[in-house]
Amino acid sequence: MATRRIPRPAAVAVALCAAALLAACAGASRAGCRKHVAKITEYGAVGDGKTLNTAAFAKAVADLSERARDGGAALVVPPGKWLTGPFNLTSHFTLYLDEGAEILASQDMKDWPLIAPLPSYGRGRDEPGPRYSNFIAGSNLTDVIITGKNGTINGQGQVWWDKYRAKELQFTRGYLLELLYSDSIIISNVTFVDSPSWNLHPTYCTNVTISGVTILAPVHSPNTDGIDPDSSSHVKIEDCYIVSGDDCIAVKSGWDEYGIKFNMPSQHIVIKRLTCISPTSAMIALGSEMSGGIRDVRAEDSVAINTESAVRVKSGVGRGGFVKDIFVRGLSLHTMKWVFWMTGNYGQHPDNSSDPNAMPQVTSINYRDVFAENVTMAGRMEGIPNDPYTGICISNVTAQLAPDAKKLQWNCTNVKGVTSDVTPKPCPELGAEGMPCAFPEEELIIGPHKLPKCTY
Ligand SMILES: *[C@@H]1O[C@H](CO)[C@@H](O)[C@H](O)[C@H]1NC(C)=O
Ligand SMILES: *[C@@H]1O[C@H](CO)[C@@H](O)[C@H](O)[C@H]1NC(C)=O
Ligand SMILES: *[C@@H]1O[C@H](CO)[C@@H](O)[C@H](O)[C@H]1NC(C)=O
Ligand SMILES: *[C@@H]1O[C@H](CO)[C@@H](O)[C@H](O)[C@H]1NC(C)=O
Ligand SMILES: *[C@@H]1O[C@H](CO)[C@@H](O)[C@H](O)[C@H]1NC(C)=O
Ligand SMILES: *[C@@H]1O[C@H](CO)[C@@H](O)[C@H](O)[C@H]1NC(C)=O
Ligand SMILES: *[C@@H]1O[C@H](CO)[C@@H](O)[C@H](O)[C@H]1NC(C)=O
Ligand SMILES: *[C@@H]1O[C@H](CO)[C@@H](O)[C@H](O)[C@H]1NC(C)=O
Ligand SMILES: *[C@@H]1O[C@H](CO)[C@@H](O)[C@H](O)[C@H]1NC(C)=O
Repeated sequence: MATRRIPRPAAVAVALCAAALLAACAGASRAGCRKHVAKITEYGAVGDGKTLNTAAFAKAVADLSERARDGGAALVVPPGKWLTGPFNLTSHFTLYLDEGAEILASQDMKDWPLIAPLPSYGRGRDEPGPRYSNFIAGSNLTDVIITGKNGTINGQGQVWWDKYRAKELQFTRGYLLELLYSDSIIISNVTFVDSPSWNLHPTYCTNVTISGVTILAPVHSPNTDGIDPDSSSHVKIEDCYIVSGDDCIAVKSGWDEYGIKFNMPSQHIVIKRLTCISPTSAMIALGSEMSGGIRDVRAEDSVAINTESAVRVKSGVGRGGFVKDIFVRGLSLHTMKWVFWMTGNYGQHPDNSSDPNAMPQVTSINYRDVFAENVTMAGRMEGIPNDPYTGICISNVTAQLAPDAKKLQWNCTNVKGVTSDVTPKPCPELGAEGMPCAFPEEELIIGPHKLPKCTY
């Protein structure tokens, strides 16, 4: 279960400072606001949508990283279209996108150098070996903020999707934003569009707040997951709006033997007030890469429209790891293929070395207070033969059926659990109990109590 966290307002207010050197906080003008502010134009950038500004972004970040110890720095991207290749962020740093600012990712693959695969994946996700850079990235950082007045980070992914579909890519596509081994991250009031692949990928991170973020990708674009917390803990995702060609949110923790060896779970994850549209995927997926384990995920007060399924567990033989202590309540679902979907034979393995005895442990999965309309099938529940998904609890659920709904509303294999007050009537594998499902009473404290409000 979750570690108990005692809310201490004073400590929370200086959360960003806590991670910084004391000198940095003393120098900051307002709590959480940066002392040094520079515009990307000061580094020679041109916002005409044509000039390649890769060198300007690199120079700006290198220069501003010198200010980390002296109150931190903000890089302001003014209105305009700022074309650039991939660039890295630094610590005690704010990337601030003004209203009408759009950072455009170069569509020239020569601008995307190859980088090492993630240790918990062992190889690129699309192809073996190294992978293309992520568009915006950072490793081993602390206190990073990406915000502004709803400016846009545009991955211009069409070229990547076309090449991926035509099987013309030798290496794995980059993600739009990937932060590794970092803490105290805030991503707020920005829009991400047309990522080449996954959008936001906090990996091996702690204390990540993602709030007021819009993520848009065509609903048939390949693998454009919205937010993928991966081997990360204390991640809060609030008030986000996601339209995507893959899962709106997918909690992950590494892939088969690489993830088992790396052994870093995703845990203490809070999702509130998500709106999701994803006709071919889940509102929230847990897995399929879950080999380091996933525990203590709390999702509530969220809406899905024209989405394949709500909160889906995906795993398979060879994954190892676990998915447990999952709490879901307050979902409003409109036009769903499946309300409940669990998959025990997801497939997709990194290579031929996956351990056939590495059985995932899936248990304590709780869903309550769900209203769904225009549903094709209430529950498609498939665990793993000889390794059932257990401890499933479903209570207070109404699924109103679509005109073309399936005759069989629940199909359950290798699952065990209880239900109460669920319409239509569940399968016998999920016996009646008459109790509401659990949801932790104590709130998880993640990130600063109040987001720093700074304009530059
Ligand atoms: C970003 O940093 C990583 C190391 O953390 C490095 O491999 C990569 O080349 C850097 N990318 C850019 C565009 O500088
Ligand atoms: C980042 O931290 C990880 C884990 O502590 C370490 O293995 C890695 O070498 C660090 N990377 C850099 C670029 O400092
Ligand atoms: C931010 O911009 C996106 C894309 O233009 C838009 O869909 C969204 O409604 C905007 N969010 C806010 C809070 O204005
Ligand atoms: C995996 O096994 C298949 C069939 O045995 C073989 O064709 C393929 O080359 C192997 N792949 C790797 C990465 O070893
Ligand atoms: C049942 O769920 C609905 C939302 O679908 C909620 O409004 C209602 O309060 C819940 N009832 C109980 C008894 O919790
Ligand atoms: C209900 O779902 C079907 C697909 O099953 C869709 O074609 C139809 O537009 C939906 N109806 C409404 C009212 O949303
Ligand atoms: C029920 O699910 C099993 C797999 O778990 C599948 O083999 C079977 O065809 C399904 N039955 C129906 C009627 O969809
Ligand atoms: C995470 O945030 C909490 C509260 O804001 C803070 O107490 C804690 O030190 C932070 N931990 C890390 C690793 O940043
Ligand atoms: C994002 O906008 C909300 C609503 O206006 C505001 O409360 C929040 O502080 C903003 N986030 C940041 C990091 O400024």
